[in-house]
Amino acid sequence: MVYFDNAASAPLFPEVISEMHDIMLRYHGNPSAIHSYGREARVIIEEARKTIAQLLQASPAEIVFTSGGTEANNWGIASCVKIYGVKHIITTQAEHPAVLKPISNICQSKEIQLSYLPLDNCGHFDLNYLDDLLQKSPKALVCLMHANNEVGTLLPLKNIAEICQKNKAYFFSDMVQTIGKYPFSFSNVKVGFASASAHKFHGPKGIGFLYINNDNPLDANILGGGQERERRAGTENIYGIVGMAKALVVAHQNMLQSITHITELKEYLKKALSSFDGVSFNGNCDKGGLYTILNVAFPNTVKTAMLVNNLDIAGIAVSGGSACASGSIKPSHVLKAINADTNKISIRFSFSCFNTKKEIDTLVETLNALL
Ligand SMILES: Cc1ncc(COP(=O)(O)O)c(C=O)c1O
Repeated sequence: MVYFDNAASAPLFPEVISEMHDIMLRYHGNPSAIHSYGREARVIIEEARKTIAQLLQASPAEIVFTSGGTEANNWGIASCVKIYGVKHIITTQAEHPAVLKPISNICQSKEIQLSYLPLDNCGHFDLNYLDDLLQKSPKALVCLMHANNEVGTLLPLKNIAEICQKNKAYFFSDMVQTIGKYPFSFSNVKVGFASASAHKFHGPKGIGFLYINNDNPLDANILGGGQERERRAGTENIYGIVGMAKALVVAHQNMLQSITHITELKEYLKKALSSFDGVSFNGNCDKGGLYTILNVAFPNTVKTAMLVNNLDIAGIAVSGGSACASGSIKPSHVLKAINADTNKISIRFSFSCFNTKKEIDTLVETLNALL
């Protein structure tokens, strides 16, 4: 079996499993309880928060645990609009649905202007255009993901943050595909709010966090007990929190080797696929793209129409950029946003440190047999 769908969810690091197992055996107190069981559980949670904050050069109070990226996106965007009286939201049509849907919901129900930045074929936009737009837009919220989850476009977060700061705009970034993949410092890159999700960096599912810069506090997401400094009520997912912190530690320990190894795999596959008839690559055209994702456009033929399913039958898991519904090919919103050739059959291959060159060889042999 070959797994090339790591952008959807990555397998747990063994160290994460053993850490979570240990915590499950030893800590069963409610972290809000005042007895020793509770106090021990509280210490474990706060240590995990500190670990995450240190790795990302944030302060622990800026890290608020959530059920994952989707919740962090919904909360960060809605709360920023509400608290700061945002009048204009600026984003792109290539964002994840967990950003696009809350935004369209907010803009339907409130008198808020919504602008989508025009994207080029690689998924990039003109930074000067953003700057100009912001100069005319007081009380703006800019929502731009760090890396695109389908085509791997990597946006220049530091430049965008500087433009937002200069124009006094709020900046929210969905960093779900990059936290744990690159060294990152919230002290150097002035993002107001950012989301992360543990299962994308070999941690458990159902846990993530919202980074909330100390200068821009948000209101509570869930009301109830006083957990997470009254910002997100509910007994904490201690096992998930510990697993996420451990995953981030391991990811950072192995980061440079992983970047080198995965980049090699991606380039190796790209080279092999370049000799296939009519194959091209979506987005991610430049060297600066996210190293874990390669989005490949195959010519639309009888053989490629069911390629994701046929690869699955051959034991290779990948993700389709085009969904086949009632006989019609529906290109993804991201491919449309970057004006990709939507007549082609697009497939996302996404890699992790566990993948090998031999697996790429298996994939290429299988493609040769199928096409
Ligand atoms: C860019 C991006 N944002 C948000 C999410 C949602 O994260 P979660 O699965 O933790 O809710 C994903 C997951 O696919 C993603 O890739």
